[in-house]
Amino acid sequence: MAKIFVTRIIPDPGLILLREHFPHFDLWTADQPPSRNELIERARGADGLLCLLTEKVDAELMDAIGPQLKVISSMSVGVDHIDIPAATARGIPVGNTPGVLTDATADQTFALLLAAARRIAEGERYLRAGKWVTWSPSLLLGADLVGATLGIVGFGRIGQAVAKRAQGFDLRVIYHDPTAQPACNAQPVDLDTLLRESDFVSIHVPLNAETKHLVNAEFLSKMKPNAVLVNAARGGVLDQSALYHALKSNQIFAAALDVTDPEPLPMDCPLLELENCLIVPHLGSASKKTRDMMSLLAAQNLVAGLKGERLPNCFNPQVYG
Ligand code: DGY
Repeated sequence: MAKIFVTRIIPDPGLILLREHFPHFDLWTADQPPSRNELIERARGADGLLCLLTEKVDAELMDAIGPQLKVISSMSVGVDHIDIPAATARGIPVGNTPGVLTDATADQTFALLLAAARRIAEGERYLRAGKWVTWSPSLLLGADLVGATLGIVGFGRIGQAVAKRAQGFDLRVIYHDPTAQPACNAQPVDLDTLLRESDFVSIHVPLNAETKHLVNAEFLSKMKPNAVLVNAARGGVLDQSALYHALKSNQIFAAALDVTDPEPLPMDCPLLELENCLIVPHLGSASKKTRDMMSLLAAQNLVAGLKGERLPNCFNPQVYG
């Protein structure tokens, strides 16, 4: 019987599927992820690993698990926590969960964009602090969407779903992504043009060596002073120290972050001092239906890999030659 380690309790659809195929799989049941040592010990000897984005799956872990490891399945679309070349070199297919979280993440991006533009979190803090004494013509004025320009950096599934939503808000949409075809009435532009023209800049690139700190001091210095930055991709794409200085000096108007580096964000992070920085704890895909679908797809990937079948969603199809 195959040995499987699942690194956290995932929503029912995935667990039910796994139980049907492998009634005795090993499940980490604590709320917190396993520590590195706990992960290595519990996963040792496994044929299949189902992990979350909280686990670093590198060559050391793969070797500690052993040469029998047949499949790594992550309940996430992002795979920056997995050493893909190391898995590919060992012939291990890596499964991920694209597609099923596109709409939820695009919705979250829009929620953040609107909240930062209209200072929703700041307004709520203001009210709860007992500062609301009267309606005022100049209280907490924000940014308008109609007629403004939204610049999308990374025009894959999620970037395009954000562009689709932007049409309903009468935003002009431009994007930068050398590999993407035009869609949703969005116009392709180079990055400098995007930064020069956008009132809202939304980041939708995966984290890798090329995109690490893509949003740095130079990037921010090219944005408009009224601009709002939204990051629902990965925290590592953004240089948080550069963002702090840009927001503190009002070089840009506001930022809304679904993701940070590290996660969780330490409570002494200077960004938390700023009223014009909205931060939520990586909730892009956090809807019940979406997480159910992610769980099911992650389990389907794992089951397929253990049966020696092609994964429904394989991130490194090169392993199949
Ligand atoms: C993913 O799946 O990579 C997302 O970041 C989870 O919200």
